Amino acid sequence: MRIAVVEGDGIGHEVIPVAKRALEVLRPDFEFYSVDVGFGKWQRCGEAITSQDMEDLSSADAILFGAITTPPDPGYRSVIVQIRKTLDLYANLRPVFGKGFDIIIVRENTEGLYSGVEKIEEDSACTVRCITRRGSERIARCACRLVKKRRELTIGHKANVLKADAFFRDICIAEARKAGVPFRECYIDALCLDVLQHPERYDVILTENMFGDIISDVAAFLVGGLGVLPSGNIGDQHALFEPVHGSAPDIAGKNVANPIAALRSAGMLLSYSARDPVSAQRIEEAIGRVLAQGIRTRDLGGNATTTEFGDHVILELESMNRA
Ligand code: NAI
Ligand code: MG
Repeated sequence: MRIAVVEGDGIGHEVIPVAKRALEVLRPDFEFYSVDVGFGKWQRCGEAITSQDMEDLSSADAILFGAITTPPDPGYRSVIVQIRKTLDLYANLRPVFGKGFDIIIVRENTEGLYSGVEKIEEDSACTVRCITRRGSERIARCACRLVKKRRELTIGHKANVLKADAFFRDICIAEARKAGVPFRECYIDALCLDVLQHPERYDVILTENMFGDIISDVAAFLVGGLGVLPSGNIGDQHALFEPVHGSAPDIAGKNVANPIAALRSAGMLLSYSARDPVSAQRIEEAIGRVLAQGIRTRDLGGNATTTEFGDHVILELESMNRA
């Protein structure tokens, strides 16, 4: 497989190399090439992503992605949003698991408020929440397929206030009935609280774009923060795997970022794109072994650096290879 590696900006330069090394140890047959996009590139070249970069990403079998800093320029278009749209990565899968709970958030990734239909005028601004039947059907089907291997679907929405959400909810319910999967629905604000109070009640959570973005950061509270949460951006032709967190400029360059989210994103790449759940499980096992030794980065209350934590994970993976 050919893997495009995008470090991006900030802590992407620190956590992605750790994840890439893990893939190299597990899959010496993979071929890697890097693609430079992001704020750093914009500062150097005046463009955050070129059409050649997009082609390089689109020709990969899978993409491992760090994070990109959004510059304070109103004319700037988010690089990750452009990539998700161009490669039609419509399903954003965000697993959140811990003691007694195992949740996967399925977020629609191409429309809603992030459709790019907006304008700013002198005294008003407006962003349109576009939700289509096709977009809703395909994300609902994706969630229902996951439920088949799991337990139950929860549809999170704000259909009591937003017409676009009533539309989304009705399509999701129709798809769940068609697929024969058990489902319930919940207003998104109530869901954000209940998922923290009773995480064990949830399994597959399905939302449109922005609500999925928000509830996945909310759910990070359950597992000690953003440093441990991976995600997959999946379409019918392409797939991109990235931590849920951003470029974390407040800690960038200090070698303190937690590489677990990036390592788990590499794990998702292995299971979804390479269909290699055994290697994916090894990454999880290696992380577990290192944490069990009391080694952790600052965000989890330890004092290991990014590279120290990464080195321990790599040692564990190498010892599994030898076993
Ligand atoms: P962020 O996720 O980068 O950081 C939020 C907080 O979590 C910070 O205090 C940070 O230090 C901490 N944190 C994040 N990842 C961590 C890790 N691996 N280990 C330890 N601590 C970690 O979100 P923020 O600050 O809102 O955004 C920073 C920049 O990243 C912005 O320019 C934003 O637009 C961009 N961003 C990019 C994303 C992407 O490219 N997919 C996703 C989210 C944000
Ligand atoms: Mg986010």
